[in-house]
Amino acid sequence: MKKGEKKIFMIIGVVIALIIIIKAWLGHFDVSDDKGIPYYTTSTHELAQKALSIYKKNNCKSCHTLWSIRDIMQTVPSPPLDGIGEIRSEKWLYEYLSAPDPKVILPSRLKKQFQMPSYAHLPESDRKVLAQYLASLKVEDWYLEETKKREYEKLTGKKYQP
Ligand code: HEC
Repeated sequence: MKKGEKKIFMIIGVVIALIIIIKAWLGHFDVSDDKGIPYYTTSTHELAQKALSIYKKNNCKSCHTLWSIRDIMQTVPSPPLDGIGEIRSEKWLYEYLSAPDPKVILPSRLKKQFQMPSYAHLPESDRKVLAQYLASLKVEDWYLEETKKREYEKLTGKKYQP
C-alpha cells in the first residue's frame, strides 16, 4: 500500500469510529420514549416549601437523595427518599424522626458516622411537617410495575407475567 493510501484509510477509520461514538452518545440521550420522572408528591406547595426548608437546614441531603438530588461528594449508602411514602406511613415517619435511637426502629448495618441521626431534638412541628411531606412522596404506577418486572426477571431469570 502506498503512503498516501494508508493515510486515507486511517482517516476513514477515524471518521467511522467517531460516527459510532457520537451515535452511541446521542442514543444515550434518546428521550423519545421517556415517561418522565417516576416520582410525584401529593403535598401542597406550602407544605413542600416548609418541609424542604427544614430538610435543607438539617442537611438531610448530605446523606439522602430527594427528587434525584444529593450532594455529589456524598458517599453514604443511605436509602433514597424519593417515593418513600409508598412504603412508610406518616405515623411511622414521625416516630422514626422522633426516636432517640432510630436504630431501634430501623436496624442499621452501617458505621456509626453514616447511620441515620436522631432528630428527636427538632421542634415537634418540624418533625410533623417532615413526616407529612415524606409520606406524600409517591411513585408512579408504571415505574413500580417496571421495577417489579426488572427485579423479578433478575432474580428468577424468567419472563415476568403481571
Ligand atoms: C449521616 C447521614 C444521614 C443524615 C444526615 C440523615 N439520614 Fe436519614 N438515613 C440515613 C441512613 C444511613 C438510613 C438507613 C438506616 C440506617 O442505616 O441508619 C436513613 C434512613 C432514613 C429514613 C428511613 C428510610 C426507609 O427506608 O424507611 C428516613 C425517612 C430518613 N432517613 C429521613 C431523613 C431526614 C428527613 C433527614 C434530615 C432531617 C435525614 N434522614 C438525615 C442517613 C442519614
